[in-house]
Amino acid sequence: MSLKDSWQEFAASAARQASNLHIASVNDKVRDLHQRIHQRHPAIARIAVALYDPEMRRLKTFVASNDHVTTPLAGYECTIDDVPSLLAIARSGEARILNDLSTIAGSDTVHSRWLHHEGFLSSLTLPIRHNEQLLGFLFFDSRERDVFTDQVVADLLLSGHLIGMIVTQELASVQMLVGGLRLASQFAHVRDLETGAHLDRMARYARLIAREIGPAHGKTDDYAENIFLFAALHDIGKVGVPDRILLKPGKLDDAERTEMRQHVVVGLRMADRLISDFGLDTLANIGMLRNIVIAHHERMDGSGYPHGLAGDAIPLEARIVATADVFDALACARSYKPAWTLANAFDEIERMSGAQLYAPTVKALLDCRPEVEAIYQRFQDGSHTL
Ligand SMILES: [Fe+2]
Ligand SMILES: [Fe+2]
Repeated sequence: MSLKDSWQEFAASAARQASNLHIASVNDKVRDLHQRIHQRHPAIARIAVALYDPEMRRLKTFVASNDHVTTPLAGYECTIDDVPSLLAIARSGEARILNDLSTIAGSDTVHSRWLHHEGFLSSLTLPIRHNEQLLGFLFFDSRERDVFTDQVVADLLLSGHLIGMIVTQELASVQMLVGGLRLASQFAHVRDLETGAHLDRMARYARLIAREIGPAHGKTDDYAENIFLFAALHDIGKVGVPDRILLKPGKLDDAERTEMRQHVVVGLRMADRLISDFGLDTLANIGMLRNIVIAHHERMDGSGYPHGLAGDAIPLEARIVATADVFDALACARSYKPAWTLANAFDEIERMSGAQLYAPTVKALLDCRPEVEAIYQRFQDGSHTL
C-alpha cells in the first residue's frame, strides 16, 4: 500500500470517528455560559481558562470572559512551579475557594497582582483534567467578598465541569485533526531530512511570536495556541513531492523547483479534504490552518509563492510561521548546509526583516531571545517530538 493510500485510509477512519463534531469557538461558548451563569450569580464578573503545557511546565491564559476590566490580561504565562497554590490544586484535584483576596494581596504573581488591581475580591479555581492529565485551570472571579458559599460553589462546579468539557473537546478535536495531519507531515519530513525536532521548535517559536504580536493585531490568546497546533503542519504537502526531487542533494532545476513548490497547493488540498472528512468546517480558526499551509512561502515583497502575495495580503499566521520556519531552518543542519549558530541565525533573519519577513514577527523573535534559546536547548534532534 502506498503512503498516499494508507494516508487516505487513515483519514477515512478518523472521519468516521469524528463525524459528529461541530465546534464553535471556545471563546464564544465560554462567553455564552458566562452570561447564563451571570443571571443566576450576578457577582461572577469573570471566567477564565489557563492551559497547561506539560513539556515546558508553563501555564498560559487561553480564554477569558470579563465584564469590564481596564487592562485585559492578554498573553499571560508563567511556570507552574512559581505558583505553589495552583500546583497544590493540580495535585489534589480539588477546588480552591478564596473568599477574600485582600488577604493574599502580598502574593507576588502577576496574575494575583492583576486581580487585585482590577478590584477582584474573591475567586474559585478548579483544575481541568482529562484522562488523569492536567489540561489547565478554570477561574471564576468576583468583585465582591464571600461570594463563594457552599451552595454557589456546588452550582458552579457543574458549570465548571461543562466548561472543562468544552475545552477538552475543542482541544481533543483539534489535536485529532492535527495528529492525523502531523503523521503525514512527519512522513514527509523523514524523507525530507527535516526532523520532528524542527517541528517542535518552529511551532513553539511561532507561538512565541503570536503571543508577542497578537494583541496588537486584535488577537485573543487562543490565536497563539492555534498557531502552535497548526504551525507544525506547514509542509504536509511534501508527502506529494516525489523522492527524486525531495531528496535531491544538489540544486533543483527549474522544472524540479516548480514541482517542489506544488507542496503548498497539495498541502491545502489535503487539509481541505481532512477538514471536510472530519466535519471540522465549523471549527473556529480552521482557516488559519489553510492560510499557514498555502501561504508560508509568500514573502513581504511579493517574491514568494504560490501567489506572489505581498505585505498585508499575506495572512498574519503565514507571516508568523514563515519567520519561525526560516529561523529554525537556518539554525539546524540540512543536506545542503551545516547548522548555523543561533547568533548567526538571529543576524540573518534581522537582515531578512522587511523585504522578506514581516518586521514585527522578526522583532518579536529577537525580543524573545531567552525563550528561543530555552526551546532550542530543550528540543534537539532525537528528543521528544510533538
Ligand atoms: Fe514549505
Ligand atoms: Fe519547515
